[in-house]
Amino acid sequence: MTDGWIKVASTSEIPPGMMKSYPVGGKDILIANVNGNYYSIDNRCTHIGGPLARGKLAGYVVECPLHGSQFDVRTGTVVRSPAESPEPRHEVKVEGSEVLVRV
Ligand code: FES
Repeated sequence: MTDGWIKVASTSEIPPGMMKSYPVGGKDILIANVNGNYYSIDNRCTHIGGPLARGKLAGYVVECPLHGSQFDVRTGTVVRSPAESPEPRHEVKVEGSEVLVRV
């Protein structure tokens, strides 16, 4: 794909307030829809690998289902420990009804 953008999902798969995980370029990433804007960070919690997309999304904050670490999906920043390292963040864009990611 040109410029490294990879089509990952259609917008209808991820309604506002929801998030899903996808395998992209050998990584496991999460895409979240907050009020119609899409954001992407790694799906694997930087604590000990919990699947973030199976946790909760409240506003811009995703909470890991294992030990409750929280991250801001806009930046990957840690909002609440026990995680200490931020999540890698990925660029997202929407073209028509397609969600594309650059990892
Ligand atoms: S694995 Fe996510 S908080 Fe522990």
